[in-house]
Amino acid sequence: MKIGLLGHGVVGSGVRKIIDRQLSDETKQLEIVKILVKSEAEMTDARMTLDADDILNDPSIDTVCECMGGLEPAHSFIKKALQEHKNAVTSNKKMLAAFAEELFALAQENHVQLKYEAACGGGIPWIHELEHIQRIDEIHYFKGIFNGTSNYILTRMNNENKEFGAMIKEAQGLGYAERDPSDDIDGWDVRYKTVLSSLAAFHTIVDPEEIPTFGIRNITKEEIAFCHEHGYVCKLIGSGADHDNFVSIFVRPCFVKKEDVFASIPLNYNALECDSDTLGKAVFIGQGAGSLPTAHAVVQDLIAIAKHEHASMQTYEHKPVSAGDEQGVFYLRTKKTALFNPSLIDHRIGSDAFVTKKISFMDMRVAAESLNDESVFLAEVAE
Ligand SMILES: NC(=O)c1ccc[n+]([C@@H]2O[C@H](COP(=O)([O-])OP(=O)(O)OC[C@H]3O[C@@H](n4cnc5c(N)ncnc54)[C@H](OP(=O)(O)O)[C@@H]3O)[C@@H](O)[C@H]2O)c1
Repeated sequence: MKIGLLGHGVVGSGVRKIIDRQLSDETKQLEIVKILVKSEAEMTDARMTLDADDILNDPSIDTVCECMGGLEPAHSFIKKALQEHKNAVTSNKKMLAAFAEELFALAQENHVQLKYEAACGGGIPWIHELEHIQRIDEIHYFKGIFNGTSNYILTRMNNENKEFGAMIKEAQGLGYAERDPSDDIDGWDVRYKTVLSSLAAFHTIVDPEEIPTFGIRNITKEEIAFCHEHGYVCKLIGSGADHDNFVSIFVRPCFVKKEDVFASIPLNYNALECDSDTLGKAVFIGQGAGSLPTAHAVVQDLIAIAKHEHASMQTYEHKPVSAGDEQGVFYLRTKKTALFNPSLIDHRIGSDAFVTKKISFMDMRVAAESLNDESVFLAEVAE
């Protein structure tokens, strides 16, 4: 299989290393023939080019592998590749979550594959497992710790009683968090991954903008103290469940019980759980990021395409996101407690925090968003 690699950063260089090593019979079927880079200074290999058309217009290349990140030009490049009857593999969750409907339709129209294992769960074979389980079972729900950076910060805050700001700096120093950490700490990265998990688990496409998303940006030592006192650990959780006419997806911090499997997931690890008819509950734990673990997932997709595994064309149904009738108990800290409907409050904690009665996810979303408080912190409390 002749591959054009788009992007040669953390993930792309890992893909090149694994394929160039040619250590297994499977990887010997793969050959990277061209690599798109951005500047002359990066041209360290005879296969490198600065012109994407050298890859997209080359009829000898049957598969492109996109590891550039960002919406554009990644989206246009994948679109053109599919229109040129090339298979595509991407590690780019943000781009695929935004353009899934268009790109899967194009893949189907042109009888080629579009695969995205690395875009969700990094090195954990999560998408593959969901697709496998789905061949036999109906998947009822998925939920998990999808973001290693936020899990690192929460683990350190929980174990060392550290401030959020100091932990962000530490995560940036270790290369876990970007200079602008918004995608990780505001829940956007988890949002994209729940969209991709819904594709694999429910064969459903959802609009990322519709997903209620709360992050950990405003967590303080007070929340950690509350958790310690009541036997909880705070984790950022994304979850999804399929219904006839809608999918309920929610991204929010959760105070999980100390005994819960998610409570013990340390540092930058991910843990992803699903529940289905005959398999029951299954949990997958591993490295959700990193050059070689993520590249491993990309190369697994390339091998699957080369071997024509799962080559049948999948169709996806578009569904709206709604909370349905799901309910929960929530912890909320806001400077604007006076604006929160008092009939929904179960008990207060100090002057600016409280725990709600059991209320619907939708009511909680509307109530929290209508506070218009940028410093609000919300978490679901396990019962
Ligand atoms: N890193 C991980 O552990 C990980 C895990 C799972 C998924 N992902 C996803 O994988 C993708 C790549 O991540 P990464 O960490 O490898 O990012 P990265 O290190 O920044 O690598 C991306 C590379 O692509 C290059 N690039 C961007 N636009 C380009 C263009 N138009 N033409 C040529 N080259 C271009 C970048 O060049 P410049 O730096 O010069 O812009 C950079 O060298 C992202 O979508 C990310 O979300 C990453």
